[in-house]
Amino acid sequence: MADDIYPVPAEWARDALVDAAGHADQYRSSLDRADAYWLEQAGRLDWVTPPTRACESSFDEADFAIRWFGDGVLNVSANCLDRHLAERADAIALIWEPDDPAEAPRIFTYAELHAEVCRFANVLKQAGARRGDRITLYLPMIPEAAFAMLACARIGAIHSIVFGGFSPDALAGRITDCDSTIVVTADEGRRGGKRVPLKANVDAALDQSFSVKKVIVLRATGGAVPFDPARDIWYDEAAAKVSADCAPEPMNAEDPLFILYTSGSTGKPKGVLHTTGGYLLWASLTHQFVFDYRPGEVFWCSADIGWVTGHSYIVYGPLANGATTLMFEGVPTWPDASRVWRIVERHRVATLFTAPTLLRSLMKEGDDAVLVADRASLRLLGTVGEPINPEAWRWYHDVVGEGRCPIVDTWWQTETGGAMITPLPGAIDLKPGSATKPFFGVEPQIVDADGKILEGATEGNLVIARSWPGQMRTVWGDHERFFQTYFSTYRGKYFTGDGCRRDEDGYYWITGRVDDVINVSGHRMGTAEVESALVLHPKVAEAAVVGFPHDIKGQGIYAYVTLNAGEESSEPLRKELRDWVRTEIGPIATPDAIQFAPGLPKTRSGKIMRRILRKIAEGDVSSLGDTSTLADPSVVDDLVANRN
Ligand code: WT7
Repeated sequence: MADDIYPVPAEWARDALVDAAGHADQYRSSLDRADAYWLEQAGRLDWVTPPTRACESSFDEADFAIRWFGDGVLNVSANCLDRHLAERADAIALIWEPDDPAEAPRIFTYAELHAEVCRFANVLKQAGARRGDRITLYLPMIPEAAFAMLACARIGAIHSIVFGGFSPDALAGRITDCDSTIVVTADEGRRGGKRVPLKANVDAALDQSFSVKKVIVLRATGGAVPFDPARDIWYDEAAAKVSADCAPEPMNAEDPLFILYTSGSTGKPKGVLHTTGGYLLWASLTHQFVFDYRPGEVFWCSADIGWVTGHSYIVYGPLANGATTLMFEGVPTWPDASRVWRIVERHRVATLFTAPTLLRSLMKEGDDAVLVADRASLRLLGTVGEPINPEAWRWYHDVVGEGRCPIVDTWWQTETGGAMITPLPGAIDLKPGSATKPFFGVEPQIVDADGKILEGATEGNLVIARSWPGQMRTVWGDHERFFQTYFSTYRGKYFTGDGCRRDEDGYYWITGRVDDVINVSGHRMGTAEVESALVLHPKVAEAAVVGFPHDIKGQGIYAYVTLNAGEESSEPLRKELRDWVRTEIGPIATPDAIQFAPGLPKTRSGKIMRRILRKIAEGDVSSLGDTSTLADPSVVDDLVANRN
């Protein structure tokens, strides 16, 4: 069957920043004369010392290095703020929509945001922060979260944002891994009318991590929280005593900007490190061209700043481009299913960038919830995080966008810094479910298990064959793990961990992770992480976790649990284990299904055969394949008989 094609609308072909011919030209140029191309692109940033060199990366083990613009000097916060002041001081930088729609939004011009960030930077300095220090941010979606990020960047400190939905244990692990000396948090967060005990969680985390000297506490809800005057600092009190002037620290392009922890195939999350020049260039360039951004438009990325999407497309990309970025504190379904669309109407949003899981959950509420709000301001729609099913794509296109707005389905990863395979709305015809074509400078390849490059229409594993500026530079504290994870599977190439198909038109279709990572509502969860949490429970002997198809979340978490001898399985224990994982990691890791299993399918060498577990979780028990190599083939019959 021929793919469904949505051609570039005529007015987009005419007016977009990049049209089809421009795209072809620039893509070719970005590969054929890469260094010159990237030095030109670097000119979009404001440098203290402009770089004279572009790419100095090698993916080979012998001289492995990832390095861009190595002799350039700049400051990210100066690029996101100071340089806009001459012409855009009174333009709106940030619109904040509160959890409770009855409250007034908060709005900051570039001049105001600049002052807030300088003040925040001075508070950090007074708390002892120095260039190169790691500062953990554990915050709700409030404007101060953006101030804090930019304030770190201003003084050359490295921020590590930990999503506010993570547990004290998960927070403690991330604080300890990078030896943070300061934590910035709030008394409480608010989401959908409920309170999140952020400060209490920080206190609990600090019982088990000892690098932290100071905790800066924002008063977000005014709720009563424990306060240790020797360690804790109320932000508002400290901010009242410092000036709103703070000179930006000149940073080398390769100085670290932030760490962001993400799940991999092993139990311990990896601290993905991004640096200053290449990351900012990538965030800014992709924000402008993927979203065809025009000054004055309101850009809304609905992600949380605790994920890379929030870093690149709420804060760094838009602000580097002098854009108006919208930040939403709450949840998209509260107080009702029209909330997202009412925000679009209230703030005249031009571009909405969101996740397929959210679209699926809103789609089931019916079209009327969308139609009550005026969406005439929308010009472009975007998605990220997981493959979008064509049904959700069409609903987004036809109902939300009234058939007028192209959809940019952007494929990328925490590791890539910004969009990698993505349509440009004025240049590339769309196919629902495909992220379409590589962005400038991106050279994807599809390889087989042995690393053989597959040409033409094909399917296999997705690798990127050359370095790009927005690429992560290392795993914090473990450069060897960085190499092993991404560059050892296919020599000389970056392995994404994703499977991919390329069709006869050269369009890329991501088929999902090929490693032990599952994608739950667009969030990455390592199966090993959930397994480690489960086996910490005193009654659990062994656990194996796999993903299975889930209508709303994309993938759900299915856990097989073997209890210690003498323990009885029961409904209350099932609930206890789910709550246990919530407490150990956070609500996003809660198993959707737990199956008690007297034994797990293992090879004679003791390796769990996940392929079989996946099939059973999917309910596809007719094609379990060859089970004769199992140490005890009879366990499979029990697993099938007792499927959840
Ligand atoms: C994984 C990366 C990129 C920010 C959000 C997630 C999957 C991401 C798409 C897409 C199909 C996608 C991949 C990737 N993914 N975007 N448009 N189509 N799959 O970042 O947590 O680092 O996860 O998300 O599997 O490897 P992340």
